[in-house]
Amino acid sequence: MLTVAVLISGAGSNLRALLEAADEPDFPARVVVVGADREADGFAHAEAFGIPTFLVPYEQFDTRAAWGEELRRQIEVWSPDLVVLSGLMRLLPEGVVRAWAPLLINTHPAYLPSFPGAHGVRDALAAGVSETGASVIVVDTGVDTGPILAQEHVPVLEGDTEHTLHERIKPVERRLLIDVVRRIGSGELDLAPFATP
Ligand code: GAR
Repeated sequence: MLTVAVLISGAGSNLRALLEAADEPDFPARVVVVGADREADGFAHAEAFGIPTFLVPYEQFDTRAAWGEELRRQIEVWSPDLVVLSGLMRLLPEGVVRAWAPLLINTHPAYLPSFPGAHGVRDALAAGVSETGASVIVVDTGVDTGPILAQEHVPVLEGDTEHTLHERIKPVERRLLIDVVRRIGSGELDLAPFATP
Protein backbone atom coordinates (compact mmCIF):
# COMPACT_ATOMS: atom_id res chain seq x y z
CA MET A 1 0.00 0.00 0.00
CA LEU A 2 1.45 3.32 -1.12
CA THR A 3 1.47 5.89 1.68
CA VAL A 4 0.94 9.48 0.60
CA ALA A 5 1.55 12.87 2.24
CA VAL A 6 -0.38 15.77 0.71
CA LEU A 7 0.59 19.43 0.93
CA ILE A 8 -2.02 22.14 0.39
CA SER A 9 -2.51 25.90 0.76
CA GLY A 10 -6.20 26.42 0.03
CA ALA A 11 -9.60 24.82 -0.30
CA GLY A 12 -8.24 21.33 -0.82
CA SER A 13 -10.82 20.20 -3.37
CA ASN A 14 -8.25 17.99 -5.08
CA LEU A 15 -7.22 16.65 -1.68
CA ARG A 16 -10.86 15.84 -0.95
CA ALA A 17 -11.15 13.87 -4.17
CA LEU A 18 -7.99 11.93 -3.38
CA LEU A 19 -9.23 11.17 0.14
CA GLU A 20 -12.50 9.87 -1.29
CA ALA A 21 -10.68 7.71 -3.83
CA ALA A 22 -8.28 6.39 -1.19
CA ASP A 23 -11.23 5.45 1.00
CA GLU A 24 -12.22 2.79 -1.53
CA PRO A 25 -10.93 -0.59 -0.36
CA ASP A 26 -9.33 -1.47 -3.70
CA PHE A 27 -7.44 1.84 -4.12
CA PRO A 28 -3.73 1.07 -3.74
CA ALA A 29 -2.80 4.21 -1.78
CA ARG A 30 -3.65 5.83 1.54
CA VAL A 31 -3.21 9.44 2.62
CA VAL A 32 -1.29 9.38 5.92
CA VAL A 33 -0.86 13.09 6.61
CA VAL A 34 -1.85 16.50 5.22
CA GLY A 35 0.36 19.54 5.71
CA ALA A 36 0.06 23.21 4.78
CA ASP A 37 2.03 26.45 4.77
CA ARG A 38 -0.96 28.37 6.17
CA GLU A 39 -4.29 27.78 7.93
CA ALA A 40 -5.85 26.12 4.90
CA ASP A 41 -9.58 25.47 4.60
CA GLY A 42 -8.66 22.10 3.15
CA PHE A 43 -7.61 20.87 6.60
CA ALA A 44 -11.33 20.30 7.20
CA HIS A 45 -11.32 17.53 4.58
CA ALA A 46 -8.40 15.78 6.28
CA GLU A 47 -10.14 16.04 9.62
CA ALA A 48 -13.36 14.65 8.15
CA PHE A 49 -11.42 11.56 7.07
CA GLY A 50 -9.52 11.30 10.37
CA ILE A 51 -6.18 12.11 8.73
CA PRO A 52 -3.58 13.95 10.85
CA THR A 53 -2.57 17.45 9.78
CA PHE A 54 0.35 19.75 10.41
CA LEU A 55 1.01 23.39 9.76
CA VAL A 56 4.37 24.99 8.95
CA PRO A 57 3.53 28.71 8.61
CA TYR A 58 5.82 30.18 5.99
CA GLU A 59 5.97 33.64 7.53
CA GLN A 60 7.31 32.27 10.82
CA PHE A 61 10.63 31.35 9.22
CA ASP A 62 13.45 33.70 8.26
CA THR A 63 14.26 31.92 5.03
CA ARG A 64 12.57 29.64 2.52
CA ALA A 65 15.27 27.06 3.25
CA ALA A 66 14.46 27.07 6.99
CA TRP A 67 10.75 26.73 6.25
CA GLY A 68 11.45 23.88 3.85
CA GLU A 69 13.62 22.05 6.36
CA GLU A 70 10.82 22.13 8.93
CA LEU A 71 8.32 20.96 6.33
CA ARG A 72 10.64 18.13 5.44
CA ARG A 73 11.10 17.19 9.11
CA GLN A 74 7.33 17.10 9.65
CA ILE A 75 6.74 14.97 6.57
CA GLU A 76 9.52 12.56 7.37
CA VAL A 77 7.86 11.68 10.68
CA TRP A 78 5.33 9.84 8.50
CA SER A 79 7.84 8.23 6.09
CA PRO A 80 5.46 8.52 3.11
CA ASP A 81 6.22 6.72 -0.14
CA LEU A 82 4.96 9.71 -2.15
CA VAL A 83 4.47 13.44 -1.53
CA VAL A 84 1.69 15.16 -3.48
CA LEU A 85 1.62 18.94 -3.90
CA SER A 86 -2.07 19.61 -4.30
CA GLY A 87 -2.41 23.37 -4.45
CA LEU A 88 0.64 24.19 -2.33
CA MET A 89 1.21 27.79 -3.42
CA ARG A 90 4.88 28.00 -2.44
CA LEU A 91 8.01 26.93 -4.19
CA LEU A 92 9.79 24.19 -2.28
CA PRO A 93 13.48 24.88 -1.65
CA GLU A 94 15.81 22.94 -3.91
CA GLY A 95 17.15 20.85 -1.01
CA VAL A 96 13.66 19.56 -0.21
CA VAL A 97 12.92 18.77 -3.85
CA ARG A 98 16.19 16.85 -4.11
CA ALA A 99 15.43 14.96 -0.91
CA TRP A 100 12.10 13.64 -2.17
CA ALA A 101 12.35 13.61 -5.95
CA PRO A 102 11.21 11.76 -7.94
CA LEU A 103 8.63 10.66 -5.36
CA LEU A 104 7.17 14.16 -5.39
CA ILE A 105 4.35 15.14 -7.76
CA ASN A 106 2.36 18.29 -8.40
CA THR A 107 -0.98 19.10 -9.98
CA HIS A 108 -1.17 22.20 -12.14
CA PRO A 109 -4.19 23.93 -13.74
CA ALA A 110 -2.72 24.36 -17.23
CA TYR A 111 -1.43 22.26 -20.09
CA LEU A 112 2.27 22.44 -19.27
CA PRO A 113 4.75 23.61 -20.42
CA SER A 114 2.28 26.42 -21.17
CA PHE A 115 1.38 28.72 -18.28
CA PRO A 116 3.54 27.50 -15.40
CA GLY A 117 3.61 29.24 -12.03
CA ALA A 118 1.12 30.52 -9.50
CA HIS A 119 -1.43 31.94 -11.98
CA GLY A 120 -1.81 29.25 -14.60
CA VAL A 121 -5.53 29.87 -15.15
CA ARG A 122 -5.28 33.67 -15.19
CA ASP A 123 -2.31 33.58 -17.55
CA ALA A 124 -4.11 31.29 -20.01
CA LEU A 125 -7.13 33.61 -20.06
CA ALA A 126 -4.91 36.67 -20.54
CA ALA A 127 -3.15 34.98 -23.45
CA GLY A 128 -6.49 34.48 -25.20
CA VAL A 129 -5.92 30.79 -25.96
CA SER A 130 -8.88 28.64 -27.00
CA GLU A 131 -7.82 25.73 -24.82
CA THR A 132 -5.76 25.19 -21.72
CA GLY A 133 -5.75 22.15 -19.49
CA ALA A 134 -4.55 20.30 -16.45
CA SER A 135 -1.29 18.50 -15.78
CA VAL A 136 0.27 16.20 -13.21
CA ILE A 137 4.05 16.36 -13.14
CA VAL A 138 7.06 15.11 -11.24
CA VAL A 139 8.49 18.07 -9.33
CA ASP A 140 12.00 19.11 -10.27
CA THR A 141 13.98 22.15 -9.19
CA GLY A 142 12.33 24.46 -11.74
CA VAL A 143 8.88 26.04 -11.68
CA ASP A 144 6.49 23.44 -13.14
CA THR A 145 9.22 22.14 -15.46
CA GLY A 146 9.30 18.50 -14.32
CA PRO A 147 8.41 15.47 -16.41
CA ILE A 148 4.72 15.30 -17.32
CA LEU A 149 2.92 12.20 -16.06
CA ALA A 150 -0.58 13.02 -17.29
CA GLN A 151 -2.33 15.93 -18.91
CA GLU A 152 -5.53 16.79 -20.68
CA HIS A 153 -6.89 19.78 -22.57
CA VAL A 154 -9.82 21.87 -21.31
CA PRO A 155 -11.52 24.37 -23.65
CA VAL A 156 -11.69 28.04 -22.78
CA LEU A 157 -15.29 29.18 -23.33
CA GLU A 158 -16.62 32.56 -24.36
CA GLY A 159 -17.22 34.66 -21.24
CA ASP A 160 -15.01 32.49 -19.01
CA THR A 161 -13.64 34.16 -15.90
CA GLU A 162 -10.65 32.87 -13.96
CA HIS A 163 -13.13 31.30 -11.54
CA THR A 164 -15.38 29.56 -14.10
CA LEU A 165 -12.40 28.27 -16.07
CA HIS A 166 -10.63 27.02 -12.94
CA GLU A 167 -13.82 25.28 -11.79
CA ARG A 168 -13.93 23.45 -15.14
CA ILE A 169 -10.25 22.51 -14.93
CA LYS A 170 -10.37 21.19 -11.39
CA PRO A 171 -12.48 18.06 -12.06
CA VAL A 172 -10.01 17.14 -14.81
CA GLU A 173 -7.08 17.70 -12.45
CA ARG A 174 -8.74 15.49 -9.85
CA ARG A 175 -9.30 12.68 -12.29
CA LEU A 176 -5.69 12.87 -13.53
CA LEU A 177 -4.27 13.05 -10.01
CA ILE A 178 -6.27 10.08 -8.76
CA ASP A 179 -5.31 8.06 -11.81
CA VAL A 180 -1.60 8.88 -11.44
CA VAL A 181 -1.60 8.00 -7.72
CA ARG A 182 -3.49 4.79 -8.50
CA ARG A 183 -0.94 3.84 -11.17
CA ILE A 184 1.99 4.59 -8.86
CA GLY A 185 0.35 2.60 -6.06
CA SER A 186 -0.36 -0.39 -8.27
CA GLY A 187 3.19 -0.41 -9.62
CA GLU A 188 2.02 0.34 -13.14
CA LEU A 189 3.85 3.69 -13.07
CA ASP A 190 7.42 3.72 -11.77
CA LEU A 191 8.79 7.16 -10.92
CA ALA A 192 12.40 5.96 -10.57
CA PRO A 193 13.35 6.88 -14.16
CA PHE A 194 12.35 10.48 -13.40
CA ALA A 195 15.05 11.00 -10.76
CA THR A 196 16.47 14.55 -10.82
CA PRO A 197 20.08 14.47 -12.06
C1 GAR B 1 -5.49 23.52 -8.06
O1 GAR B 1 -6.07 23.90 -9.28
C2 GAR B 1 -4.00 23.33 -8.23
O2 GAR B 1 -3.64 22.80 -9.44
C3 GAR B 1 -3.52 24.75 -8.14
O3 GAR B 1 -4.24 25.26 -7.04
C4 GAR B 1 -5.54 24.66 -7.05
C5 GAR B 1 -5.83 24.18 -5.66
O4 GAR B 1 -7.18 23.88 -5.52
N1 GAR B 1 -2.11 24.79 -7.95
C6 GAR B 1 -1.33 25.65 -8.58
O5 GAR B 1 -1.74 26.54 -9.29
C7 GAR B 1 0.15 25.48 -8.30
N2 GAR B 1 0.92 26.23 -9.22
P1 GAR B 1 -7.72 23.06 -4.26
O6 GAR B 1 -7.06 23.65 -3.01
O7 GAR B 1 -9.19 23.29 -4.26
O8 GAR B 1 -7.36 21.62 -4.46
